[in-house]
Amino acid sequence: MTLNEQEIEHLKEHIGHYPEPRAGAIYCLYFVQDKYGYIPRESMDEVGELTGLSPVQLDEIITFYTLLRRRPVGRNLIRVCTNISCHTRGAKEVLAAAQEQSGVPLGEISEDGSVTVLPSICLGLCDRAPAALVNDDEVLGELTPDKIRDEMARYVSQAMNSTEASANGRLIATLKPQSQEPK
Ligand code: FES
Repeated sequence: MTLNEQEIEHLKEHIGHYPEPRAGAIYCLYFVQDKYGYIPRESMDEVGELTGLSPVQLDEIITFYTLLRRRPVGRNLIRVCTNISCHTRGAKEVLAAAQEQSGVPLGEISEDGSVTVLPSICLGLCDRAPAALVNDDEVLGELTPDKIRDEMARYVSQAMNSTEASANGRLIATLKPQSQEPK
């Protein structure tokens, strides 16, 4: 059990706004990710029970929506776009610099737990290419290898000075139905 009674009730109430429970699946998954930083396997069973979707169907949703994740990440998640506009303006070098700065392979959590770097599909920031998204809501644009290193150093230092939990948790506020108060 990864969700408490109050959280289950909240999700049921949210799902009740849709004509079909399955329509609330994305919200439920983001809700879980907000809580844990990723979507644990056990939570998928709970979301499946609430929405009537199978683990395979939920997995397909998670795979499709790149902002959802099945694996834990560092306290700062840095997604570097590698699509065409960014690619033509040096994204490959930016991504390499970011990965090198993290000290671990792409997708892994740095030793101090402060950062994970991932390549990304287009972030919709092509006019600011090469671009990156930090913690799902902070934009970095016109990046160079030096600039991404500086930005990462700043995020890592903030992470080390903060007790706050992570890369996660801001998207959920934007997904609430308009009739609900933020939880
Ligand atoms: S191609 Fe990188 S933000 Fe669009």
